[in-house]
Amino acid sequence: MKILDGKGLSKKIRNNIKEEVKIAKKKYKRAPGLAVILVGEDKASEVYVNMKEKACLKAGINSKTYKLNKNISQNELIKHIDSLNENEEIDGILVQLPLPKHMDENLVNSQISPKKDIDGFHPVNTGKLFLGEKGFIPCTPKGIVRLIKEYDIQIKGKNVVVVGRSNIVGKPSAMLLLNENATVEICHSKTSNLKEHTLKADIIIAACGRAELIKGDMVKDNAIIIDAGTNKINGKLVGDVEYEALKDKADFITPVPGGVGPMTIAMLLENTLEAYYQNVVKSN
Ligand code: GUN
Repeated sequence: MKILDGKGLSKKIRNNIKEEVKIAKKKYKRAPGLAVILVGEDKASEVYVNMKEKACLKAGINSKTYKLNKNISQNELIKHIDSLNENEEIDGILVQLPLPKHMDENLVNSQISPKKDIDGFHPVNTGKLFLGEKGFIPCTPKGIVRLIKEYDIQIKGKNVVVVGRSNIVGKPSAMLLLNENATVEICHSKTSNLKEHTLKADIIIAACGRAELIKGDMVKDNAIIIDAGTNKINGKLVGDVEYEALKDKADFITPVPGGVGPMTIAMLLENTLEAYYQNVVKSN
């Protein structure tokens, strides 16, 4: 078993971005800018947003977090997004999910300018991913593929089973891996006999948000296991796979924490830098 060290790779990518930002700031006379909107007081979201803010700060990216009251109307939120769309110092806009129940996440995401949609959740970018065209790719799926490639693991021709069909991880991961020429199957909470499917996987992407759902006997020997889960059991962070039961069986496995999570942050910085370049090159 080998560990897919997302934490280590993330550090390397973030250091490279920091160096690039230093040079770019001199050349274009301003730093990249990211606006993060957090609505309400979801504890996990607050933790994620803090991590994103810290990572930006370290990389020299200007990040500003807008903390909005949970009772704000959807129209008011959209007005905020509109003003950030117009703000020339802002290259990327991120609305942290989940949003309060009275809001329509798809509608809110569709208000972000596709050019500033560094999360890749706008239908234009979702459509581009579907078509295999260049656009912003959601950070977690992009980070997963980057991590797999870093270890020279071949994706082409492999049987990939994605467990989970969220718009943030499951669906875009499946599409990205399909574009990389894998044979992809998507399973979810209504899949009957999940084990029958996962046993066929060369690569498993666990992204169902259920603590340790993927057990030791559900995976074949020498599989590659990517765990995008972040669940708490008695205060301890665990993934969607039973790590202890699988760590000696798998060829490669991501730890939780230290696997997929740090890659998501690195890809957010990378997407923000990409949006910045598109912005500054256009206006210089
Ligand atoms: N909530 C959980 N993951 C994410 C993410 O990657 N982006 C946003 N905006 N919200 C999230």
